[in-house]
Amino acid sequence: MSETISVAILAAGLGTRMRSKKAKVMHEAGGKALVAHVVEAALRLARPEDVAVVVGHQAERVKELLAGYGVKFALQAEQRGTGHALLCCRETLEGAGGLVIVSVGDCPLLRAETLEALVARHRAQGAACTVITTELEDPTGYGRILKNAAGDVVGIVEQKAATAEQLRVREINSGIYCFEAALLWPGLARLEPNPASGEIYLTDLIEMLVAAGRRVTPYLIEDASELLGINTRVELALVDRMLRERTVKAHMLAGVTIEKPETVSIDAGVVIGQDTVVEAFAQIRGRCVIGEECRIGSASILTNAVVEDGAVVEPFSVMADSRLGKGARLGPFGRLRMEAQVEPGAVVGNFVELKKTRLGAGSKAQHLAYLGDSTIGENSVSTAVGLPAATSRKNLRTSQRTSCAGSSSSCSGGSARWAHQVGGDIHTPRRSVSESSLASPCAREPATTRRAIAPSSTIA
Ligand code: UD1
Ligand code: MG
Repeated sequence: MSETISVAILAAGLGTRMRSKKAKVMHEAGGKALVAHVVEAALRLARPEDVAVVVGHQAERVKELLAGYGVKFALQAEQRGTGHALLCCRETLEGAGGLVIVSVGDCPLLRAETLEALVARHRAQGAACTVITTELEDPTGYGRILKNAAGDVVGIVEQKAATAEQLRVREINSGIYCFEAALLWPGLARLEPNPASGEIYLTDLIEMLVAAGRRVTPYLIEDASELLGINTRVELALVDRMLRERTVKAHMLAGVTIEKPETVSIDAGVVIGQDTVVEAFAQIRGRCVIGEECRIGSASILTNAVVEDGAVVEPFSVMADSRLGKGARLGPFGRLRMEAQVEPGAVVGNFVELKKTRLGAGSKAQHLAYLGDSTIGENSVSTAVGLPAATSRKNLRTSQRTSCAGSSSSCSGGSARWAHQVGGDIHTPRRSVSESSLASPCAREPATTRRAIAPSSTIA
């Protein structure tokens, strides 16, 4: 069947129970905003122009967050309940006809496969509406599903309005539905506000459809975990853990070795190549891209990092917005930040920090150094004897191309502890700590040298 499928995602609420200044749907689980998980599932079923996200609380920020997906937005200026929220995207989606899938925006575990199964089930039953339901040990807080003898849904009652008997019902409303568009929009327009709260509840539409002689069927899902709605930070933490387990498992099945997977945290958008090994307690966050046959050491934290094939991040290293080239090494206790670039085969050793610096192919900064705002040429070698080496835009330009070409000591200023290797000839000052702070390939400029290792200039 080729009828249009459109999706409405309700994401306008504040989420009072989160006790946050930030709209609930913008909180993250598994490394991605709650609503983004739902949008991605929706986009597996519908074209972006047929997906509408209802925004309200912090509307501009939610829109900005989702800008890359190409979906539409509808504004619910005042949060007057889930039914009212859906009504707000009537104009945006009404023309589409066919089927309308409605989902709350706070159920990030929802899988696209489940939405596909919902549509298949709905078509097979020929109902006006199909509701995804599940049975929970503790259904507190959720709307309860009321059924007739035939097993069809006849109503949904919210926790606050339920009788003692209804509260014992363990089958709950997931907040995810499939509607016939032709019945949804006219029915929705006739919903009245709830007398107690003044809100318009989408759940009241079920009873209205049944009263009009239409059928509403449940689609009962065994795995309740997928439907967990997030209302508090306790639920957020639980769902975060579940999403991360899912991500880690998917990487392992795709050929990544993950040691002690229960300790490893990988965000949703991360890419990892085959035969890479991720050691215990590593955290890989944001939009990291890791190549094949890499090793990500224990307790390392990578955020928006690119690690090319065969590169090694030794334990306890931190990378943010930086790149480690093919076969390069970082750490242990290494740090790359702010667009640091370590070219293929280069080595950044223990207690070395690079900020906005490009370390040329094959170059080595083995230990105890700060390299900031600099370009280091190829095959250069730093040999820290005791005190940290330091560079910054002001005090050093150790680039083979510009400043340190050749094997002579011709730096145009700089650190005490950079020696330069050209054609395999390594020039390392073999002196005591006190000597080395003055005598260096750049010893002709001792003042600059001292400035370079002074604390004030080592922190850029
Ligand atoms: C809702 C359902 C409940 C179901 C549960 C599943 C209603 C009345 N209740 O309850 O039956 O068991 O979800 O998780 O529908 N929203 C708006 N505008 C509003 C209010 C809410 O866009 O005016 C959005 C929220 O941003 C959220 C979603 O709708 O993404 C659900 O709202 P929430 O307050 O979490 O509803 P629940 O109380 O969980
Ligand atoms: Mg909810």
